[in-house]
Amino acid sequence: MKPILPVGIAGIGSYVPEGRLTNADLEKMVDTSDEWILQRTGIRERRIARQDEIASTMGIEAARRALEDARMAPDEIDMVLCSTVTPDQPFPATCCAIAHGLGMNRAGGFDIEAACSGFVYGIQIGASFVASRAARNVLLVGTEKLSTIVDYKDRNTCVLFGDGAGAVVLTSLERAGRGEYLGGHMGMEGGAEDILGVPGGGSRHPASHETVEKRMHYMHMGGTRVFRFAVATMAEQIELAMKPYGYQQLGLVVPHQVNQRIIEAAAERVGLPIEKFFVNIDRYGNTSSASVAIALDEAYRAGRLEKGKIQCMVAFGAGMAWGHSLVRW
Ligand SMILES: CC(C)(COP(=O)(O)OP(=O)(O)OC[C@H]1O[C@@H](n2cnc3c(N)ncnc32)[C@H](O)[C@@H]1OP(=O)(O)O)[C@@H](O)C(=O)NCCC(=O)NCCS
Repeated sequence: MKPILPVGIAGIGSYVPEGRLTNADLEKMVDTSDEWILQRTGIRERRIARQDEIASTMGIEAARRALEDARMAPDEIDMVLCSTVTPDQPFPATCCAIAHGLGMNRAGGFDIEAACSGFVYGIQIGASFVASRAARNVLLVGTEKLSTIVDYKDRNTCVLFGDGAGAVVLTSLERAGRGEYLGGHMGMEGGAEDILGVPGGGSRHPASHETVEKRMHYMHMGGTRVFRFAVATMAEQIELAMKPYGYQQLGLVVPHQVNQRIIEAAAERVGLPIEKFFVNIDRYGNTSSASVAIALDEAYRAGRLEKGKIQCMVAFGAGMAWGHSLVRW
């Protein structure tokens, strides 16, 4: 058997739409206040895509930036992975539209549906393809137009979410020259459809007048239960990830941007200062599949990925699913 090939991250990119939805805007839509939102979540504003911007078009923009950063032409990619819970349509997969939009004609691919954990799962899936030599160069995109499934009459959810996309290019460590993939973890509990999800429009409750009238095509969430799960899972994943290395090797934790308080509580639980966590939730809210990807790109472009140190990406969400991916920069 051929040896497993070391894998690296060759390029990182992201894209957020220009439209902003501020807390002041939300005050006019539901019974809420800037003070409540900021105190309970840390969010000041989120980006909202234009009507003609969809998951694939935002994903294409993020992918272009990641490819440019990797100095790689689109036709060098042989696998396109797209993580999203807001695909362009139920099928075909959104990765097909992304590949087409980038002018690729020889790449295979598929979509990953692991909600907010999707991008962290995707790094492990993409790295496995490269490591096993099933693909040479993998493009991974996390993209969401959550504004299409958020119920702007439900104050419990509408203040939390935003739109955007991020991408990475995975290839052999030799070619990438940086971002060595060290491994990761994917976990899942299941049986949690009532805690977080979109109940309508699938085979359980196919689209009908009734599902539309009952607003079942929007996201439903049991917020407090998610809060407890999120704090415990984020802390457990960081501890599990860093145990073999020790915190002295840790560069940054790049967490799913779920809630400033959840991130702070997890930091306290694992005994790390909040400065070790990259947080941009104030500007984007929770963008699900795109959240870790956008944060990674911003950390990278701000020079926050310290050379030689381990960057710990950690996520969790609907499913309930969770995971982490480790990269030595
Ligand atoms: C949703 C969340 C912000 C609520 O914060 P919290 O501190 O747990 O809120 P509390 O339970 O203390 O308070 C809930 C109360 O605030 C109210 N409330 C909810 N949203 C509100 C809003 N936007 N404005 C004002 N009040 C709001 C609720 O109606 C509830 O009122 P009640 O007690 O009269 O029923 C928090 O639980 C959270 O972030 N959970 C994770 C959600 C998430 O990100 N899910 C996706 C995971 S990938």
